[in-house]
This record gives sequence, C-alpha cells and structure tokens, in this order.
Amino acid sequence: MSFFNQPIQVKNLTIKNRVFLAPLAGVSDVPFRRICQELGAGLTYVEMLSAVAISYNNKRTFEMMARHKSENVLGVQVTGPTAAQVAHAVAVLDKQGFDTIDINMGCPVRKVVGAGCGSAFLKDPERISDTVMQSRAATQAPLSAKFRLGYTRENINVEETTQRVLAAQVDMFTIHGRTRSESYSTPCDLLGIQKGIEVGTNHSSRLVKVGNGDVFSYEYAEKMRLETGCDAVMVSRGALGNPWIFKEIIEGKSFNPTFEEWLDVVMRHLSYQEEHYGKNKLSAILARKHLLWYTKGFPSSKSVRDTLNRVEDLAQAREILLEYAKNVAKEYVRYTSSGSELSSQYDPKFEMDRTLDRGVGDEGMES
Ligand SMILES: Cc1cc2nc3c(=O)[nH]c(=O)nc-3n(C[C@H](O)[C@H](O)[C@H](O)COP(=O)(O)O)c2cc1C
Repeated sequence: MSFFNQPIQVKNLTIKNRVFLAPLAGVSDVPFRRICQELGAGLTYVEMLSAVAISYNNKRTFEMMARHKSENVLGVQVTGPTAAQVAHAVAVLDKQGFDTIDINMGCPVRKVVGAGCGSAFLKDPERISDTVMQSRAATQAPLSAKFRLGYTRENINVEETTQRVLAAQVDMFTIHGRTRSESYSTPCDLLGIQKGIEVGTNHSSRLVKVGNGDVFSYEYAEKMRLETGCDAVMVSRGALGNPWIFKEIIEGKSFNPTFEEWLDVVMRHLSYQEEHYGKNKLSAILARKHLLWYTKGFPSSKSVRDTLNRVEDLAQAREILLEYAKNVAKEYVRYTSSGSELSSQYDPKFEMDRTLDRGVGDEGMES
C-alpha cells in the first residue's frame, strides 16, 4: 500500500488517506470538492473565509459554507486581522459542524495582507500565538494553521512560526514552501518545509505535519515526503483540471485518464455545477476556468478552449464538449502527444475572473 493511502488521525478525526485538497479561493466550491473527493482526496476545504465577514453575518460568506450531503469530512479555513476576531469566527465555524478548522497565515494577496490577514501574521509572531491560543479555546474540533516559510527570503521564520502554533496547541499544520514575496516562478523549498516539520516532530508524535507546494505528481509528493518528513501532502494548483492527481498519489503511480474517463468526469462536474448553482449564466461563467484547465492535454484543444471560455450556459458547454468528443478517440490518453501539463510556474489567476472569483473569498478584507 502506498504511504499516502493510509489513514491518518487528527485529534478525534480519522482521515482516510494522506492527500488533501487545499482551500482554494474561487475554486474549492462544492462541485469541485465533490469531484476531488470522488477521485480520492482524503480531506477537502471550503474556500478561505474572512473572520470579519463572518462577524457581519455576510450572506455570501455563509453561502460559501455549503456542504453537500456526500461530504463526510470537510474542513474550513479562516483568516482575520485580530486574535479575537479569528477566535470568534472559529467559534461560529465550530457550530456549523466543520470537521476541522484551519487558520490562514499565508495568503499573499495584497488586499488580504494589507488588512492584516493571511501572510501579515508572519510579521507579527505574538499575534500568531494569541490567535491560535484564543481559537483553541473556541473549539474542540481539530485545529490547524497554514503558513509560509517567512515573509521574505531575508526573514525566514518557519521554525519560530511552527513553535508558536504548536505551543498554542494546534493538532495539525501545513507549510507552503515559499515566502510571501515569492511567486510561483520560485520552486517550492523542501528544505525550508523540512525545518518546520522537524520542529513538529520533536514536539509531539501525535501532530499531523503537512507539506504544500508544487505537488503536481506522485513522484513529487513522494520526494516531498522523503525530503521533509511530512505525514501528508496538500495539493493546490496540481488539482486544477487534474483531479485525477488524488488517484495518482494514492495509488503511487503516474496516472493520466483516457479521453473517455476524462469526459465522464468533466460531464459529472458540470452536473454538480448545475445542481449547486443552477442553470443560469453565472453557473456557466463560474465553470469556465475549470473547463479551460480540463481541456489541456488533448489534441487541437486550443480552439475548443476558446469557445468554452465564452460559454453562457452549461448546456452549451456540454454540446461543445460532445462535439469535440467526436474527433478524439476514447482510448486517447491525456498528455500523450500534444498539450502541456500545468507547469509548476503556472499562475492560475489568468484563467480566473477577477470580479467573480476574486481569488481570495475576501468580503470584509478591505483595510
Ligand atoms: C486559485 C488559488 C486559490 C488559493 N486560495 C487559497 C486559500 O483560500 N487558502 C490557502 O491557504 N491557500 C490558497 N492558495 C494557495 C495554495 O493553497 C498553495 O498554498 C499554493 O498554491 C502552493 O501550492 P502549489 O504550488 O501546489 O500550488 C490558493 C492558490 C490558488 C492557485
């Protein structure tokens, strides 16, 4: 059995395997999470929520907490400008019945950081301690923090951040192997992650230590595990258009779907999209980015991408895909000739709609 296909215990929560889908603002909604869960993701998260928006009872923020009945295990993530606000939000999220609650201390988006949230924590170590301590008092659910190596390369503080979240009694932590100032063109720093994980290992054997950054294949997940000592990996960009990555990592061998398998999943995603958002134009617009990501790796897919990028309803998207399917052999294996896989330097924001996806789920973030 592959290492990643073993269950893991986070406090009182048993997670069926060690491959998690990250909270992804604008992406990890109900339809996408369902697809990732079906293809094996052991733990998935709602998009990052704002503690301030929660305190205002913001309608959209509460809508983002939606959970499909098939979602047996579901996490949520929150960030906020003060320890008290985050702890209040954690208490609210606890009542909503989430299985695990994460505090985001790594989001690099300027508006978020400017409001004292996300990566701003990395410059304010005392607030890291206060926030986790107060949040710990607000929930019995498994509590975690997700953070980066530091604010800049010159200010790496991953060991201190790890020590602080552990002292304040998190049950799990995730380290993204970049600093706030580094973009995706800087490769994930596995040694940096290892330094934080070592602090965790020395602290307690019951802690769950998660590695994150550049996980685009089983091969890399295994490299991350061997070089950092992490207990689990969290997949982010690697799942965009490729939810089969969960199956690949769990089974411990490279996997690309045939066109037939691919079409089945894409069509299912569209059904879940319709079930969740309805048949309206917004539903189709929200699906566009996924369709653009999905259609990489098959012959002549550029022209189909151009049309999918303009779809205004889901029925039209289905028609375009079925028409395209007439020209591709169902046994064709994705990425076997044309089409490039998403590279680790790829920044998905170019396929996302700034006004709709916002990229951060950030009501209440304005400073
Ligand atoms: C579209 C998008 C949305 C993201 N939203 C969140 C988020 O809400 N919370 C979070 O902790 N990280 C978020 N991230 C960061 C990822 O979880 C992850 O830490 C980062 O992309 C590094 O992993 P990767 O190199 O495997 O993509 C987001 C990343 C992307 C691309």
